[in-house]
Amino acid sequence: MRRLDGKVALITGAARGIGRVFAEAYVREGARVAIADIDIARARETADEIGEAAIAVAMDVTRQDSIDAAVDATVGTFGGIDILINNAALFTAAPIVEIDREDYARVFDINVAGTLFTLQAVARHMIARGKGGKIINMASQAGRRGEPLVAVYCATKAAVISLTQSAGLNLIEHGINVNAIAPGVVDGEHWDGVDAFFAKYEGKAPGQKKKEVGAAVPFGRMGTAEDLTGIAIFLASSEADYIVSQCYNVDGGQWMS
Ligand SMILES: NC(=O)c1ccc[n+]([C@@H]2O[C@H](COP(=O)([O-])OP(=O)(O)OC[C@H]3O[C@@H](n4cnc5c(N)ncnc54)[C@H](O)[C@@H]3O)[C@@H](O)[C@H]2O)c1
Repeated sequence: MRRLDGKVALITGAARGIGRVFAEAYVREGARVAIADIDIARARETADEIGEAAIAVAMDVTRQDSIDAAVDATVGTFGGIDILINNAALFTAAPIVEIDREDYARVFDINVAGTLFTLQAVARHMIARGKGGKIINMASQAGRRGEPLVAVYCATKAAVISLTQSAGLNLIEHGINVNAIAPGVVDGEHWDGVDAFFAKYEGKAPGQKKKEVGAAVPFGRMGTAEDLTGIAIFLASSEADYIVSQCYNVDGGQWMS
């Protein structure tokens, strides 16, 4: 018996990167998955490549109508949602004196409000269905501490950790476990973008920041999305029933808490 046999997962931002690799891992464990993303073309490609256990769902986590439609589409196709991964997020960086109010609002809207209101919509469904569920929020090592050029993104991820704590305490009476994963530095398209920010603000050559952060990880390299699948499967499984409001560091030894 596979660990997620018969389960249905809605994963936001799953067209690429960590969310995609989580979707693939969940399908290998017996789940069916909704690949929910604002980039619907790429979500369709990803779902096609994963196969018949996956569907693509158009979703902008900053719009309530879109959140509700994505939940309805997933329930309509698969009959219910057992697992939500709040994974969609944007990175941004700037020195404090250059932070732009519009950029701040956009990143908070996706990373914080998107997480909260997607969690809310899925929790309402799970409560009405009466079968409990598992909700996993993607936090970050960035939410554990400040960084000189990354104030806004760090603050959004600190908010995700805080929301996880409160939502976990509020929803466990319904059998809904809310927990979070705090990755360190995970290579992929997201980090290509992060590297470009540091090239701009620290005058580094393209790829230089990646080399530096990889060398600074006690494990000896940047993480991969595959490094995170173990915790993502575990937190979605019945083995995690007694785990409430926690945030797990999976970062090669970078942060201890
Ligand atoms: N990569 C890392 O080093 C790292 C480290 C710590 C935490 N994280 C977190 O892990 C998660 C996944 O990261 P990733 O590296 O795969 O990122 P990514 O940028 O590769 O993927 C993010 C996905 O979210 C989608 N998205 C963006 N805005 C959206 C919106 N409004 N509605 C719906 N979808 C939207 C994008 O289209 C994309 O497919 C994020 O929450 C990120 O903050 C990543």
